[in-house]
Amino acid sequence: MKKLFADPPRTPLVAPSILSADFAHMGRDCRHVMQAGADLLHVDVMDGHFVPNLTMGPDMVRAVRRELPDVFLDVHLMVTDPERFIDPFIAAGADHLTFHVEVVAPARIAEVASRIRAAGAGAGLAINPPTPVEAILPHLAAVDLVLVMSVNPGRSGQAFIPEVLNKTRLISQQLRPQQRLEMDGGLKPENASDVKKAGCDVIVAATAVFGLPSESRAAAIRAFR
Ligand code: DX5
Ligand code: ZN
Repeated sequence: MKKLFADPPRTPLVAPSILSADFAHMGRDCRHVMQAGADLLHVDVMDGHFVPNLTMGPDMVRAVRRELPDVFLDVHLMVTDPERFIDPFIAAGADHLTFHVEVVAPARIAEVASRIRAAGAGAGLAINPPTPVEAILPHLAAVDLVLVMSVNPGRSGQAFIPEVLNKTRLISQQLRPQQRLEMDGGLKPENASDVKKAGCDVIVAATAVFGLPSESRAAAIRAFR
């Protein structure tokens, strides 16, 4: 299993979301943000059901993997039935799969996480802004990473919801040092310091990295850190 973090870990890690890349030049754009200093790539998968939008599937992961054999691919499953997609995404080259706490029965969350890990990837659990933190606290020990959504998932370019920082602090206090806390949605260099202070150590950004002209991306990645 590829490790998300070198030892000692560099924090925060910056994970540009390929949702805002140029889909007609995906390989070129991904290579470019990695050269610009990104640590990993975030892949936003939407099924048109858990969220209204449709984005990409395992074939996109396979294509990016072919272009960038060593990049860490962090797949965010905004789908109603994540179990269906564990094997296809890992076979395509995903290093990590995050599924949502809103779609799996509480009694089965640990089992889904172990299936992901047994198939060779890291497992993450995501929580949407309106979902109470109590929904995720009992499951923290079962996963490698927790993803706190700071917008309602569905599309890039939305405004950051600052109320999620309370939830983030609570979760952060309960994680082990080897577990990671990722935030996703509306993140920009201007709000990154609040996000880091709340305990987040993986920053996802679509608009604020891939959405910029290519010559501005390296400075944006540095500004996040
Ligand atoms: C939200 C996705 C995010 C999103 C981030 O639906 O999970 O990864 O694309 O986009 P920005 O950074 O533009 O808010
Ligand atoms: Zn995401």
